[in-house]
Amino acid sequence: LPKEHSLMIEAHELLAKFYHHLLLNTNEGAEALDYLLKRGFTKENIQNFRVGYSLPGWDFAVKYLENRGFSHEIMEKAGLISVREKDGSYFDRFRDRLMFPLHDSKGRIVAFSARALTEENQPKYLNTPETVLFNKSSLLYNYYNARSHIRKQGNVVLFEGFADVISADSAGVKNGVAVMGTALTEKHVQLLNRLTNSVTLCFDSDSAGEEAAYRSGLLLANYAIDINVAIMPDKLDPDDYIRKYGPEKFRENVIGNAQTWMAYKLHYFRKGKNLQNEGEKLSYIERALVEINELENPVERELYLRQLSEEFSLSLETLIEQQSLLSGSKFKKQQKKIEQRNTLQPKKKNQ
Ligand code: GTP
Ligand code: MN
Ligand code: MN
Ligand code: MN
Ligand code: MN
Repeated sequence: LPKEHSLMIEAHELLAKFYHHLLLNTNEGAEALDYLLKRGFTKENIQNFRVGYSLPGWDFAVKYLENRGFSHEIMEKAGLISVREKDGSYFDRFRDRLMFPLHDSKGRIVAFSARALTEENQPKYLNTPETVLFNKSSLLYNYYNARSHIRKQGNVVLFEGFADVISADSAGVKNGVAVMGTALTEKHVQLLNRLTNSVTLCFDSDSAGEEAAYRSGLLLANYAIDINVAIMPDKLDPDDYIRKYGPEKFRENVIGNAQTWMAYKLHYFRKGKNLQNEGEKLSYIERALVEINELENPVERELYLRQLSEEFSLSLETLIEQQSLLSGSKFKKQQKKIEQRNTLQPKKKNQ
């Protein structure tokens, strides 16, 4: 590890420690602590995830690190400070925010995500920019701490927000990780694949979250990973859900009740469709038949065919006949369309 990198990591470790102290033990941090506790974070959460608070002043980190012998060059390369155009002076990137340290896969702090305490303060989350140590497309929040739990349980729960990871952890779900506001990437999947081949997706239950779960599932399916999707009511996110219904309901009704990937796809395809309308109904049934046809397990295939048969009062024979028609030329066309759709680039969120 080049000297420069270890200095950058050391700077992060020192600041994280001090931010954490400010949050827990000082008057300056009292309001931020109050915000967290009101939100349902526990002291244990705050300690385990080393949450902190950065002061409102412009040069706290600059001075703190100067006093410990760090050069401005290192601070800037680490993404901790910025330069003023007009006079070349330095100022802190993170001010008056909750500080969430981001650990790399070896457990070293390489970046921060900083949350505003009020709606007026935008953006809601401010992250360290891309640096030699921090690449948000390859970092999973909580990966280092969750890995032993993931291995033990043979499963990882993937969340959309890292606040959800923290909440879930105190609800007893300790095998959770989250992406940092980006779409799931091949690099993320490779990290997960080192530990397990079973992923439970637990995204926000708004339409952005449902879309992201579908996209993520398609990517994971390419790696032959076993996928389940946990869903929640009322557009809640996991953190909201835990606060509203408690840890036990979260473990049992949400995580324990996760749907199979096929069931989730069927749910996804009928979203926004009016199944009273003949045309929309037919196109949904065809889409479902194509997907079901791709299942390798004949028992599973029959299971979903039966569900379809019951739901639309169609005989199994009819459905199977339709399926073989679809696997002819029309099926091939439809397949192509699906493949094209699957290779569309996922939309990027919150740069
Ligand atoms: P809370 O509002 O604190 O509960 O956060 P959340 O976890 O519910 O966040 P949300 O569902 O809005 O977004 C999910 C994830 O997207 C967050 O954990 C962040 O990583 C990322 N994100 C959200 N808002 C922003 C933003 O303003 N800027 C950046 N860079 N990332 C964001
Ligand atoms: Mn969201
Ligand atoms: Mn959310
Ligand atoms: Mn939110
Ligand atoms: Mn939330």
